[in-house]
Amino acid sequence: MESNILVVENLWKFYGREVILKNINFTVKRGETKVIIGPSGAGKSTLLRCINLLVRPDRGRIILDGDVITERRDVHNIRSQIGFVFQHFNLFNHLTAIDNVLLGLIKVKKLPREEAMRRAKEALLSVGITEELWRKYPAQLSGGQQQRVAIARAIAMDPKIILFDEPTSALDPELIWEVLNVMEKLSRNGMTMIVVTHELGFAIKVAHEVMFMDGGTIIERGPPNQILLNPKGERIKRFMDRMWYLYSLNRSSKVA
Ligand SMILES: Nc1ncnc2c1ncn2[C@@H]1O[C@H](COP(=O)(O)OP(=O)(O)OP(=O)(O)O)[C@@H](O)[C@H]1O
Ligand SMILES: [Mg+2]
Repeated sequence: MESNILVVENLWKFYGREVILKNINFTVKRGETKVIIGPSGAGKSTLLRCINLLVRPDRGRIILDGDVITERRDVHNIRSQIGFVFQHFNLFNHLTAIDNVLLGLIKVKKLPREEAMRRAKEALLSVGITEELWRKYPAQLSGGQQQRVAIARAIAMDPKIILFDEPTSALDPELIWEVLNVMEKLSRNGMTMIVVTHELGFAIKVAHEVMFMDGGTIIERGPPNQILLNPKGERIKRFMDRMWYLYSLNRSSKVA
């Protein structure tokens, strides 16, 4: 069996005459957690959006589980196989936590209500959202709880891969860890994930590989210890110095 669940080949994206993604190539193995870091405007979100077919690349191929999805037109079907967790949770505000999770199971997967219910509850419990929270609306939940509901919604669909775009960057510092905890558990349980994040502790602990992006390309990639602690190029060294500085400030203010 092919061990690569995702192959990205020679991917290019332009907006007008501006090159946003430049010849991106990488593969993700089943069960792998890949972390992407890099400065603002590097193209990280655009890359994830291409994989999810929210954005059409101009050149190149994306192959999901042997299927060349960049050639497919049934975008909704493909998208139902890919989880996406956004910075701003993107829950439906008029639906309760459990209804947010149920929606895709009933409308997209067409599961009978009882089966959908069983899966929704299981997914919510797996991210630590217990029964007393299921009937609450997003506005009645903390940011960390909302993001865990969003992760449960992705998990419940039984996706081939989950893409995370800075899932903790809109959260108060004390809520970050509960979301990272859930993601770490997911990774350890064998979920395949691509995570755009600047949470260096998470990247060191959980990532199998880290890719540093700048100017629309992958500048360096490798094991987290190498990329985050021992980078080679000047550009990434400067970036990592700043990241570690901010990271240590952040942590030291938390440890009282
Ligand atoms: N729809 C669009 N139309 C035109 N330009 C866009 C569009 N979306 C993104 N861009 C440009 O593409 C480049 C990459 O943007 P992208 O959002 O992918 O970066 P990023 O690495 O996710 O940055 P950040 O860390 O700030 O989220 C930026 O220069 C951005 O202005
Ligand atoms: Mg982004």
